[in-house]
Parts: sequence; structure tokens; C-alpha cells
Amino acid sequence: MDSPSVEAEQFERIKTSVFRNSDEAVRDVAASISNLIRRRQSERKNVVLGLATGSTPVKLYQELIRLHLQEGLPFANVISFNLDEYYGLPPEHPESYHRFMAVQLFQHVNILPENVHLPDGMVDRSKVFEFCLNYERRIRDAGGIDLQILGIGRTGHIGFNEPGSGIDSRTRMVALDRITRRDAARDFRGEANVPEHAITMGVGTILEAREIQLLAWGDSKAGILRIAIEGEQVDSVPASYLQRHPNCTCAIDNAAAAALTRFKTPWRVGPVAWEPSLIRKAVVWVASELKKPVLRLRDEDYAENGLTSLLVETGSAYRLNLRIFNELQHTITGWPGGKPNSDDSNRPVPAEPAQKRVLVFGPEPLDAEIGMGGTLNRLVNHGHDLTFVYVTSGNLSVPDNEARVAISLLNEIRLAQSEQIPKLLESLAAELGTKAAYDEDSAALRQFKGLIRKAEARAACQILGLDLNKVDFVDLPFYETGRYRQFQTTEADTQRILGLFKTVRPHQVYLTGSGADPSSVAGIVYRVVMAAFARSRTEDWAAGCQFWLYASSDRAWLSHEIDMAVPLSPAELTLKLECLYHHRSQRNQTPFIEHDSGESWQQAENANRATAHEYDKLGMAEYEAIEAFRRVKTDR
Ligand code: GLP
Repeated sequence: MDSPSVEAEQFERIKTSVFRNSDEAVRDVAASISNLIRRRQSERKNVVLGLATGSTPVKLYQELIRLHLQEGLPFANVISFNLDEYYGLPPEHPESYHRFMAVQLFQHVNILPENVHLPDGMVDRSKVFEFCLNYERRIRDAGGIDLQILGIGRTGHIGFNEPGSGIDSRTRMVALDRITRRDAARDFRGEANVPEHAITMGVGTILEAREIQLLAWGDSKAGILRIAIEGEQVDSVPASYLQRHPNCTCAIDNAAAAALTRFKTPWRVGPVAWEPSLIRKAVVWVASELKKPVLRLRDEDYAENGLTSLLVETGSAYRLNLRIFNELQHTITGWPGGKPNSDDSNRPVPAEPAQKRVLVFGPEPLDAEIGMGGTLNRLVNHGHDLTFVYVTSGNLSVPDNEARVAISLLNEIRLAQSEQIPKLLESLAAELGTKAAYDEDSAALRQFKGLIRKAEARAACQILGLDLNKVDFVDLPFYETGRYRQFQTTEADTQRILGLFKTVRPHQVYLTGSGADPSSVAGIVYRVVMAAFARSRTEDWAAGCQFWLYASSDRAWLSHEIDMAVPLSPAELTLKLECLYHHRSQRNQTPFIEHDSGESWQQAENANRATAHEYDKLGMAEYEAIEAFRRVKTDR
């Protein structure tokens, strides 16, 4: 896998610009598109853009729309070709890329309908080949693509060129990879509903564009980006062929860049400033490379692994080891709300006040349970005043089958009690009887699915011992009015969180989503919560309030990043799993993570056990499982 000895492999083979966040990246890319359009306009020429779908380009399109509306950026001379389309979806289908492009961009700008091109997902099977040839011809006739915008799938696909797509591949029909279909499962409410095929431009087609900009945001893209940018050019990672292109740039955010050598092990790339967090990272890295506990590392272990400069900085391996061992040791606590009446100078959480007001945000049901189910249970057992807020109901990810089960249960109750249950049940059953798998839910069905998730969530909370009077659903409007990958937030969302802060006045806040794709539910919730906090600064509770990030299934916290490690006993882990099982509607919906194609509860168990194992290997005590947290720096 990682081969530290081969220096040449450590360098990026695609020009990569790393931005603090996706907003900055998007402004930069939009500005270059705008320049191109205006330059061509002044020459009275067309510009041909290759466009992409998915969550990644959503903000770019919003910025282009803003430029159009506020700065008069014209689209009359723009010709567009989209990369791909699901096969079998009619253009009006809510998940079709035709509809996506219309809603996200075309409806809002003055592009001419005849200048817009997308592969036709409904073309007859026998005509697909001809259609694809024709699509290529139309690109050529338009003069070829000037600028191609790309996202990247977690398989390393560009467009829908799944692993195995060669460098010479052209526009064609493809079968979608299992990981890709699982990633789309929530959009389609179940993997079974995700189309199996798509029509996509080929790798060869994409590489013919005169310029390419690949965009990527969030933790979940970090691993594949490293392989695409720093790895070999191979069919198994089609995006790696972008290395061949003379004018290709990656514009990515910090989270997506995390696995690149210059961020993961910066000391291997050039001189570094040895900040405390980097020192811990380097020591943990050497220890895990050599599979040695921290206290057993020798001077030569550092020297032989390119870390002489660290030894020079800190004196000797002996002192360095001890320092990092203590730092790691001090992250471990069974008292996530602070340990009353004890010295807290080396503890992650202050002892006072002994009973804390704790506010926990779950972007969707199951997120917080996965990240901190055991810790929730501890906080309750230690008597803290805990408010658990589900920010959205999660109704978008309830498959129809689950709604059928719930209706049939309610029907049993109705029959048994022969009471009048609202007509609603019948109309829902009728809807489920007639709707096709791809159809959009009516408002009533969506609301009903929300109830299913709320019922599961409340049952799960009871397992953890939470006070149900303090389990709230705030149903933020962005979610209720949106769909996955296409959410839009408004002031109303922030206002609801501001209201919560005012009533709870927390000493501790737990949340997730700092490194998530900014258009995902967790990513949006993180930003809304932090924006609300920024506006609450002057309130008396804000100064002492600690913000803790629990891990998501996208990415576990690595040993060197952890600020608080809450060990779980075997019994506590069992209890946590019991709680997670209650979210049964979420079966078959969890994206696969590296080498783990299990359900979310299995992934959570594996991740918590793995964190404990990592700590054990570094020389800490051996626990059954650990839930890990990072502290958000909230001081200005
Ligand atoms: C889809 C699209 C790709 C896109 C990828 C990533 O499969 N066909 O063009 O780049 O997924 O999607 P997202 O941006 O939502 O992460």
C-alpha cells in the first residue's frame, strides 16, 4: 500500500490546489469559468463546457447562478455537454441528471435549450451504440470541450467510468459498481432502486477536453484522491489517467486533501515547523509504521524514518516518547462530562460544574448513536442534564418496504381494537401499491416515513437510558424541503439552532460533520450549528462551552487526532449495538467504507474496536472499544 521508501511516488502527479473550504474553491473555479465565457463572448465565439452532477458541483452552479444574476455573466454563448446519465430514468425523474441540471443550473441562467446536451437515459437498447457515437460527434462538431468539470466517485470513477475503464474508453453504456450503487442508495431510497446501468462519456472522451478541473470535498474522498493523484495510472482507478492530461487541476478542500503525502506525513516532503499536533502525529506515525508502542521507540527509529529534525527539536527519543505517551494517556477518560471533585488539570473536560448541561446534535437519526452511543449512556448515568436534538427526521432514507411494514403493524392494531384510524393509512397503502420504485414520495408518505424514523430513534434512545422528554426533533426546513445532494439552507435553519442554544445554554455540545461533504446533511448541520454559535458568542454560557466532534462513519478519528477517548466495556459496547439495531429502516443503505461492506452497526463496532486496538498498540491500556472525540477550537 503505502511505500514510504519510494520517494518519487510521494509527489502529486496532478496539479492540486487545496482550499480552506469548498466555498473558496468554488469561487476560484467559477471565476475561471466566468473569465473563459466573457473572453469568448468578446471574441463572439461559443464556449463548450463539460458539466458534472452529484453533490460536488452544486455550490459551483450556485456561484455561477449568482454571477449570472448579480454580475450579468451571460450563458447565451455556452454550449454544454454532461458527462453521464442513469440508464432507464426519464428526464423528469427526480434523480435523473437531466432534472438535476435543470434544477441546479439551467433553469436559472440564459443558456439556450438547444445548446444543452446530456446522454439520453431512455434511448432504446438497440440504439445505444449509435447514440453514443453521435454524442461524441456532437462534441466534436461543437469544437471539442474547452473546460471539463469533474467530480470523483469513491471508486475512483470520473463520469461513470468505473474501475476497469481504460484510457481509450469512449462514450458508452456501463454497469455501475456496487460501491457506487450503495453510495446512491439513499438518493433512491434503497440500493435495489438504483439503476444498474448508465451512459457515460469515456475516459478518452474526457481527456480530450482542453482543460479539466476536478473538484472534491470532504473526508470521504481523501483516500481515493491520494490514489488518483499520487498513485500509478491504472484502469482500476480511472481518475488516475488525469495525470496524463497537460492541463488538469484538482481543486479540493482541506478534508479531501488529508491523505496526500504533504498533509499526511509532511516531513517526508520538505522541512516542517514542529507544532505540538504535528509532533504527536509524527510519533504516532513512526510507532505504527514500526508496530512498536510509543515508549519503546529508539533514537534510530526516528532517524531511520526521516525524522532526525524532530529529534533535534525535542532532544531525544526518551523525552519525546514520554511526552507523547502522556498526551495520549490524558485523552482517555471514562468521564466525558468531567470527573467531579478531582484534579482536572490533565483531563479533557473540566470537573466543574459537576452536573453539566449537555447538548447533542444528531444530523439524522443514527449519526450520534453511531458516533457516541456509549458516551451518551455514560453522560446519562453520570447524571448530566442531557438534551438530544435530532436535527432532521431522516425521512428521505426510508425505503418503501419499511413504510409497508409500519402500515401493516398499524393495521393490525386497527383490526385488533377496531378503532377508527385516519383515512391516511388507506391512502398511504394505496400510494405504495401504485408507485414505481423511482417515483417521488407524496408529502404524506414522506411525513409518515419521518414518523418511522422518529419511532426508531426514540426506541433507540430508551435503550441508552435517555429521558424522552429531552429528546427533540427540530426538523430543520432545509431537509424537509430538499433532497439528498441538493439541499439549500436559509436563515430559518440557523434561527432554530439559535433558539436551542438560548434554552439549553450548554456547557458541552457534541456534534459531527466538520470534515463531511459540505452538501451532506451532516456537513450542513455542522455549518449551521457553528454559524449559530458564532452569533451566540456574547451569551454568558458561550465562553466556557466545549464543542466535541464525534466521528462519523465516513472517517474514524486517528490516534494522533483524538482529544478525548471514552473507553467502552464489553457490556457497554453490547448496549450500544442494541441501540443501533433499532434503526432497522437503515439496513442496506450504508455506504461501504474501506474494506467494510457491513451494515452501519457493524461498521461502528469495527471502528470503535479498531480505535481501542490502535491505542493498545501504542502502549495504552487494552480496552474492548473506544469512542473518540476531537475538540473544536472555538476561541477566536
Ligand atoms: C456520480 C457521478 C459522477 C460524480 C460522482 C461523485 O456517480 N456520475 O460524475 O462525480 O458520482 O458524486 P458526488 O459529487 O455526489 O460525491
